[in-house]
Amino acid sequence: MATPPESHAEWIALVREGCAGNAPAFQLRLTRLIARLRREKSPLAATLSKALSEASESRLTLARDAAAQQATLSPVDADSNLPLTTTQFPAHVDLQPVWAPEIESGLNGLIQEWLHTNKLVAAGLEPSRTVLLSGPPGVGKTLAATFLAEQLHLPLVTLNLAAAVNSLLGKTGNNLVKVLSHARAQPCVLLLDEFDAFAKRRDDGQDVGELKRVVNVLLQAIDEWPSTSLLVAATNHEELLDRAVFRRFDLWLRFPESTKSQIETLLLRLGCDQGLATQITPSLVGLPLSDTPRLINRARRQVALHGVSFEEAALRLLAPESLKDDEVKRYLQIKRMQADGKSMRAIGKELHINASTVSRLLNRKG
Ligand SMILES: Nc1ncnc2c1ncn2[C@@H]1O[C@H](COP(=O)(O)OP(=O)(O)OP(=O)(O)O)[C@@H](O)[C@H]1O
Ligand SMILES: [Mg+2]
Repeated sequence: MATPPESHAEWIALVREGCAGNAPAFQLRLTRLIARLRREKSPLAATLSKALSEASESRLTLARDAAAQQATLSPVDADSNLPLTTTQFPAHVDLQPVWAPEIESGLNGLIQEWLHTNKLVAAGLEPSRTVLLSGPPGVGKTLAATFLAEQLHLPLVTLNLAAAVNSLLGKTGNNLVKVLSHARAQPCVLLLDEFDAFAKRRDDGQDVGELKRVVNVLLQAIDEWPSTSLLVAATNHEELLDRAVFRRFDLWLRFPESTKSQIETLLLRLGCDQGLATQITPSLVGLPLSDTPRLINRARRQVALHGVSFEEAALRLLAPESLKDDEVKRYLQIKRMQADGKSMRAIGKELHINASTVSRLLNRKG
């Protein structure tokens, strides 16, 4: 079957893009041409498709290595000469994180988009480029950025907030521009942690002029962010953010407070046995998830230093210091009942102590 003349133009454009080294355009055009060959039932379609996916895989590996090297060369603050970013490559998460279900599906969806960019490109789409993580302290927002970089095998470039804002008024915007263009220049995950420091509402009383400028730089950067890097912004003060910021992100993941089941799973991953995990989980509910590994590490130190059992050390650390040994177990028992939604009166009745003793045990500070 004769090829219609207009399709020649596509092949010629492909050759031009290839020779000019424009890999993304080349790849996109070739994918379209393969789709056409497939419709025309040409046997070349399967061969080209296989060659393209093999070549893009090795190109991606090369690009990632080069990017990792490039990413470590941080831009610096002009006044203090401090580096404006730090780079981790390979990014690594020690312990498998425990996400709330909605966060897990959001993160996994994002990872799938990035791992199968070829399929998206073939359909004329691109992966989510920008993601906002918000929620209370210590629930894993910063951890999520590291996790994403690890899963995507990309360098994690983190904005060094102290260096970026610790400069003379008017320079913060410049620093931000430098960091953004540094991160756009090579594939990476850029983490803008404590994002509220930059993206405050433009009507916020202080430094109005500078703040407006910084927010505008950010809004423009988010809009124009390339699909070769992932921009991750994290904040635990979403109420301070400029309204215009939210709708600009491709994805917004709102981390909930830690739950009982998250804490229990984390305790098990940290090496606690089920019995101890069930016993101490209620005392950790409502606290940041980051308190859980901290408690376990402190208990391990006590075991090493004083030769007490791990269980005893953990229980002791959770209860107020002023409680006597025989009160510690009771304290944890009350916490567990409280977490099950029982009232002070109901707890007192069940344990055969009066309600004021219950609240005394709970409220004694260490
Ligand atoms: N979902 C989680 N799964 C496992 N560990 C977690 C999780 N969230 C927090 N942690 C533990 O707490 C530590 C601190 O978490 P992280 O710094 O990511 O919290 P954050 O939400 O960014 O807090 P902040 O708002 O204070 O910056 C982690 O390094 C990890 O040890
Ligand atoms: Mg954080």
